Amino acid sequence: MSFKVAVVGATGNVGREMLNILEERGFPVSEVVALASRRSQGTEVSFGDRTLKVKTLDQYDFSDTDICIMSAGGNVSKEWSPKIGKQGCVVIDNSSAFRYDQDVPLIVPEVNPDAISLFSRKNIIANPNCSTAQLVVALKPLHDFATIKRVVVATYQSVSGAGKEGMDELFTQTRAVFVADQVDVKKFTKRIAFNVIPHIDVFLDDGFTKEEWKMVAETKKMLDPKIKLTATCVRVPVFIGHSEAVNIEFEKPITADEARDILREAPGCQVLDKREDGGYITPLESAGEDATFISRIREDSTIDNGLSMWIVADNLRKGAALNAVQIAELLVERGLIQPKKKAA
Ligand SMILES: NC(=O)c1ccc[n+]([C@@H]2O[C@H](COP(=O)([O-])OP(=O)(O)OC[C@H]3O[C@@H](n4cnc5c(N)ncnc54)[C@H](OP(=O)(O)O)[C@@H]3O)[C@@H](O)[C@H]2O)c1
Repeated sequence: MSFKVAVVGATGNVGREMLNILEERGFPVSEVVALASRRSQGTEVSFGDRTLKVKTLDQYDFSDTDICIMSAGGNVSKEWSPKIGKQGCVVIDNSSAFRYDQDVPLIVPEVNPDAISLFSRKNIIANPNCSTAQLVVALKPLHDFATIKRVVVATYQSVSGAGKEGMDELFTQTRAVFVADQVDVKKFTKRIAFNVIPHIDVFLDDGFTKEEWKMVAETKKMLDPKIKLTATCVRVPVFIGHSEAVNIEFEKPITADEARDILREAPGCQVLDKREDGGYITPLESAGEDATFISRIREDSTIDNGLSMWIVADNLRKGAALNAVQIAELLVERGLIQPKKKAA
């Protein structure tokens, strides 16, 4: 059984990674179609050792496509995902457009795979925000053991989370600083080279940013609505890999050793936690990896049943493309999708 898969946003950071991961994991495809805007028509992207010519989204007919992985931003998703879903093609949507819709499951396969069955209501499945995806992968097994009451997170998010323009801006500004050229600020609100910016997405009325709000809403939707979470999201001059300093208060006792053992066995998690120089993960090492890495696990004696830890993952993979492909695999494994065209 194999499926016709369209990747929308195939020329972007996440779309390119999507094509890599579909190929790496041997997802059963009969055909892969690369779609983007009219700007990219006819350009080429790689799919394994093949080259795909990019087609334009607004001229493409989805009627014989089985799965569409959308990764072209919220406005494109709002306009296109419902139309594509109505043509009987299951949309796995990377944007925030449908994440909070009650009729759209928001899925991290290691966390809430059973919620996927709701997808048939709109034929859309949402992929979470990158910083939430890696967080819930690590929180889920700990929550199952000791019930999380409250989480305090500070993120250190790489520029690739802001798309290819974000990566270009860090590169261009860094070079300009070195050659004593003028440093232009376009994508971010302040200079990102040799700086950090405590602001991702728009400000809300309560002073939090939308990125911070997303972490709260998505953790509640996927893991447990009773969990209290507060976040400070910060952009840092790192190309790939989001890091998070996380403090967790549990209802029941849990030691650092217990947490380490639980996380070592948990799906999608890798513990790298030696109390010595370099005995922890940094975002540089997470780039290109599938795991969510956990380091610096320690007890926090300032609260009852408290733990602190450091969580790092490749935001383009677990934070976006890998999770989307895992959702597609889940659809297939559970027999929730059949190819429209039967193999000859
Ligand atoms: N980066 C992350 O860590 C991350 C994590 C989770 C979710 N996401 C989400 O994934 C999406 C893409 O992010 P990205 O980082 O890959 O951005 P990106 O590098 O800026 O790429 C954007 C892609 O969208 C395409 N696109 C833009 N407007 C379009 C239109 N009108 N019709 C068709 N295609 C259009 C672009 O095509 P052209 O090349 O033709 O312009 C490009 O392929 C966003 O919704 C983002 O929120 C990103």
